[in-house]
Amino acid sequence: MNERLFSFTDRLIAQLDQALHTVCGPTPQAERASPGTGKKDAPLSASERELAGRLMRINHVGEICAQALYQGQAVTARLPDVRGKMEQAAREENDHLAWTDERIRELGSHTSYLNPLWYAGSFAIGAIAGVIGDKWSLGFVAETEKQVVEHLAEHLQRLPAADEKSRVILEQMRDDEGHHATVAVESGGAELPGSVRQCMRYASKIMTRTAYWI
Ligand SMILES: [Fe+2]
Ligand SMILES: [Fe+2]
Repeated sequence: MNERLFSFTDRLIAQLDQALHTVCGPTPQAERASPGTGKKDAPLSASERELAGRLMRINHVGEICAQALYQGQAVTARLPDVRGKMEQAAREENDHLAWTDERIRELGSHTSYLNPLWYAGSFAIGAIAGVIGDKWSLGFVAETEKQVVEHLAEHLQRLPAADEKSRVILEQMRDDEGHHATVAVESGGAELPGSVRQCMRYASKIMTRTAYWI
């Protein structure tokens, strides 16, 4: 099917449907099995389990935001091939969303109560980036993914040593996000000004600190 046959309104309605599924729907179906499948769920103390659950909740919020950013950009990106890349990346992030969702439940924790808010904010940012232009939009994706890679490396340090199941999930996510960043740069993403990169770091700090608690 030729994607160019769809109007802006068609795409907007499809994205709204996608948004409701992401935020309110059941655990999404992953295309790839979770890296944690088959790994033994090692016994964790109550505090270790709580910490792992909170960290996985932050990563789940990150994936909600990633979906929203990509989907927002897909609505406003000008070039069809850029739009296609955004939609493909959003589908890949769906695996991460499913894996973190499943792990949170295994750890007896819950996803963030503020997910609709995170989704709406990220969708708006993504849509604005798409309107500004494809090279900036792709640059924004590249920078986001680079910051997520750094953030995942930090969580891999903080995760309880015994929690191998969460660890392998985060390791695979880190590798995937690094690949997303490379693809965005190779597709023509421009490097963002330092002030924008700094704003993105502040925004992500607010999100991660809030999601740790709620
Ligand atoms: Fe992801
Ligand atoms: Fe990614």
